Order: sequence, then C-alpha cells, then structure tokens
Amino acid sequence: MKKIISVVGARPNFMKVAPLYREFQKYAGHIHHLICHTGQHYDEKMSKIFFEELELPRPDFYLGIGSGTHAGQIAGVMVAFEKVLLEEEPDLVIVVGDVNSTIACSLVASRLGIKVAHVEAGLRSFDRTMPEEVNRILTDAIADYLFVTEESGMTNLIHEGISSDKVFFVGNVMIDSLIHYLPVINRSAILQTLGCDPKDYILVTLHRPANVDTEEGLKDLVGMLIRLSGRKKIVFPVHPRTKNNLEKFDLLKKIPEEIILTSPLGYIDFVCLIENAFLIVTDSGGIQEESTYLRVPCITVRDNTERPVTVSTGTNILIGTDTKKVESAVVEVLGGRIKQGQIPELWDGHAAERICRIIANKLCAGKTPAAEEGV
Ligand code: UD1
Repeated sequence: MKKIISVVGARPNFMKVAPLYREFQKYAGHIHHLICHTGQHYDEKMSKIFFEELELPRPDFYLGIGSGTHAGQIAGVMVAFEKVLLEEEPDLVIVVGDVNSTIACSLVASRLGIKVAHVEAGLRSFDRTMPEEVNRILTDAIADYLFVTEESGMTNLIHEGISSDKVFFVGNVMIDSLIHYLPVINRSAILQTLGCDPKDYILVTLHRPANVDTEEGLKDLVGMLIRLSGRKKIVFPVHPRTKNNLEKFDLLKKIPEEIILTSPLGYIDFVCLIENAFLIVTDSGGIQEESTYLRVPCITVRDNTERPVTVSTGTNILIGTDTKKVESAVVEVLGGRIKQGQIPELWDGHAAERICRIIANKLCAGKTPAAEEGV
C-alpha cells in the first residue's frame, strides 16, 4: 500500500484537492490518501465551509499555523509538517497552487527525500514582487511530478530547464470541482438572499496586497466602486485582509448601501454569483479561470496574469491597476462591448482522473486495477 499526503492551506486550495480526494477513492487498497490542512486559513468562512461543501473529510492532520508574517507562516508550516512526514513516511506529497503552504510543504518533503507532485505547475506572472510567483518557481524547481493546466505552463517549465519527462499537461482540477458541483451551484439561493437577479450585478473581489494594502490604492478603488454603483448594482464579498484594511483606513463607512458587501462566501454560493454576474472585477487568480469556464466577462485589476489562456482564449481582460482604466473598461462592457471566450483545452472535468492515473502508474508501477483499466 502506498501512502500519499495532499496538502491544503488556504481558501484557493480546497477546491483543487477535492477532486483528487474523490478520485483516489478508486485506488483504495493500493493507495492510502491522507489530507493535511496547515491552517493557513482557519476561519469558518475561509476554511470550514469549504470542507463541508466540497465533501472533504476531516483533515487527517491539522497544523493550526494561522496568520502571521510570511516567514513566520512558512517556517511554522515547515516545522509542523516535518513532524508529520517523519511520523507517516509517505511515498508522495501532493501540493496545489501557489500559497505559502505550497512551498513550505514541498521544501520539507524534498529535504526528507519524499517525492513531491505539484498540481497547477508552470504558471508564471513574471512578477517576483508577488509572493505567489516566488512560491511557484521554487515549488516547481523541486517537484518530481508537475501537473500543468494550460499550454503556457509547459513552455515556462521547459524554459526553466525542467525535464519534460516530469511534466504532464492534464487540465484544471479547479474546473473539475466546478463541473462536478454545477447542479448544486445552480440550486444556490444566494441571488434571492442578496436581492439580485441574474445578470443585473457586477461581482467584485479584491484582496491582493498590491491593491488593498495601501490607503491611497484602496481609497481609489472604493471611489471607483462608488461611481460604478450608480450604473449597475455591485456585489462585493470582502476578504478578511481587505476588511481589515477598509477598517484601518476608515473607508468602510464611506461605502454606500447600493454596494452589497458580504462576508467571504462559501464555494457554492460564490460560484453561483460568478455564473450569474453580468461582469466580474477581480484581482484573484482562480476567478479568472472560473469566469472563463462559465463564459462570464472578467476584468482583472492586475498588471499581469499567470493564467494567460484566460486572456488569449477566455473572457478575461487584463487591465492593470489604474482605477481610471478599470472604470472605463467596466463602462465599455456595460455599454455592450462584451468579450466572447472559449473553454481552454482539457478543462473538461477529468483533470484529477488524469493526475491520479499518472501517479498510480508511477507509484504502483501500473499494478492498481484502476490504472490497468485506464480509469
Ligand atoms: C493567501 C494567499 C493568496 C491567495 C489568498 C486567498 C499566500 C502568500 N497568499 O493570501 O495567494 O490568493 O490566500 O485568500 O499564501 N485572515 C482571516 N481569516 C483567515 C485567514 C486570513 O481573518 O482564515 C486574515 C488575517 O488577518 C490575515 C489576512 O487575512 O493576516 C491575510 O491572510 P494570509 O493567509 O496571510 O494571506 P491572504 O491575503 O489570504
């Protein structure tokens, strides 16, 4: 029996591990799949609700790291995860995405000679001021198996000298979750709860430090939202980082009632809001992909994206962080200039199937029934 530990830490990780967890059940008897939650995100609404909605079991290991400086967070995860690995001696550690838990756990596993698989490898924004970019580069440099979501990832890894026999273009596990839960998402009552109709609102999410950590930047964004709310209803689920800063800079009370502010939402309600939005304005990574799959126009308030297929093929428009430019791009879309998009290659709901089959073949040398049958 082979043992695998998949790591989750922060909100964008949960929907990526859920389809892998489901898929590994097919290999029970050959592979024992365990989940380690680092506790990077710990709130009910940033973590617990995702486990419930995505039907994930209670994590086998909970490291309880919590918030802190990046060094504190990464170091804390490393020390705690090392104990888990020394105790459990797994054959493989799976990390997803680009958060601090991703690099911390990869590094510990690699040091102990345990193989590492990185799901969502190869994405590059080429902006090293983003902590996620550094996390991605470092994780990919030490991973043994690299699972890629889009063509650009293949090219980036080859340019970085990573041997092509470690790299697999498999599609997008986050889209697996979206497709799997779409029937449930379509039954969400969030639109009624917020008093919205389909396509009558702009969905806004902002949480990148570059956008929300300075008073001037956040003030500009709030001013823009206030002006736009005169044209279209705005729904803005507020990330804890953004909420803290809105309070700190005394901006929360300046936001008028026409802008619907909510706490962070669960997975089902949030994807329902994406699906029914007229337009999305965001600085998130994952939402660029979810809106592309659901063919909803998305304006990304960043200077770069590590997910260029969402721009070249999907509905994403990369506009930068200048609020005047963002505002005029929104006005254009409201005026009918809507970007049509296609669904990128292999975003078909079967990425986890491909990943687990490859891993089973590597770890069990093709001896699992599922691997033999080509599941
Ligand atoms: C992290 C990820 C980012 C991802 C984002 C999604 C890194 C470097 N960043 O950023 O890539 O897009 O998650 O949310 O890993 N907080 C709470 N409750 C929580 C978690 C956080 O209140 O459950 C507050 C804390 O005040 C904390 C702040 O949010 O200081 C920021 O959290 P942190 O985990 O440091 O980074 P994120 O901005 O969430």
